[in-house]
Formats: sequence, C-alpha cells, structure tokens
Amino acid sequence: MKLTTLFLTISTVLCCVYASNFVVGNVANRVVLVNHTLIEYNAIPFMKRVKYYFYSLPGIRKIEGIQALDTLHSKASINITAGGVGHSFVNMRMKSERGRGLSYDIGIYVAQDEFYRT
Ligand SMILES: *[C@@H]1O[C@H](CO)[C@@H](O)[C@H](O)[C@H]1NC(C)=O
Ligand SMILES: *[C@@H]1O[C@H](CO)[C@@H](O)[C@H](O)[C@H]1NC(C)=O
Repeated sequence: MKLTTLFLTISTVLCCVYASNFVVGNVANRVVLVNHTLIEYNAIPFMKRVKYYFYSLPGIRKIEGIQALDTLHSKASINITAGGVGHSFVNMRMKSERGRGLSYDIGIYVAQDEFYRT
C-alpha cells in the first residue's frame, strides 16, 4: 500500500518535471493566436538535435504571449534566444533529448486590441 503511494508520487513528479511545456507572457486573456506552427524533426540515434524557430509579426505589432508544447512529452528544452514578449519577433532554440526527435507545437499570441487596430 505504502509502496504504491510512493510510486504514484514519484511518477507524478517525473511527469511534471519532464513535460517541457513553455509559456511566457499572456496566452489566455484578450489575445489572438496569430501563428500556430508545428515543428517536427526526426530523431537521430544517440544525438541531441538543436533547431531554431523564427517568427516575425507583420507590421509593428508586439507579441503578447508565446506557448510551446512538447507534443512528445520528452526531455526536450526550448528557450528564447532573441525577441519575445514585447517584441515584434521571436527566435527560439529547441534541443531534443538524446536520440529522440523534436516536436513542438508553437503558438504566438497578440493582444486583441492591437490585432484589430488597422
Ligand atoms: C507561421 O510561422 C511560420 C514560421 O515563421 C510560417 O512558416 C508560417 O507560414 C506562418 N503561418 C501563418 C499562417 O502565418
Ligand atoms: C535553455 O536554457 C537552459 C538554462 O540556461 C539550458 O539548460 C538549456 O539547455 C537551454 N535549452 C536550449 C534548447 O537552448
């Protein structure tokens, strides 16, 4: 009984540590999803893959929020290397787990007010 509880606790912790989902800024409140891209790269045995994603907004709009979901639920990581929230562009660096592919579902959000302004 105790062992089961311990196991459940450990697996819950592992689940949350390794779900490398990434959210910055505001992606929920009065925002519009302006770009949704699925980034996919195959695994290379024994290697970590490093890839970049660049997005630039048309016009002078500013990014309000960014969400990146690791659809493989792997130990991949993702960082912003340039731009981001408050900028009109973002450059992101993704690194896969060794020997696994990369699969990120990336959403870029802009404030509603800004989106509907002409
Ligand atoms: C979203 O961004 C990607 C990467 O910059 C681009 O290839 C794609 O065309 C964009 N999609 C839309 C609907 O703007
Ligand atoms: C993101 O930054 C963290 C901390 O600096 C680093 O450990 C990780 O490897 C970086 N990931 C990528 C994809 O650059």
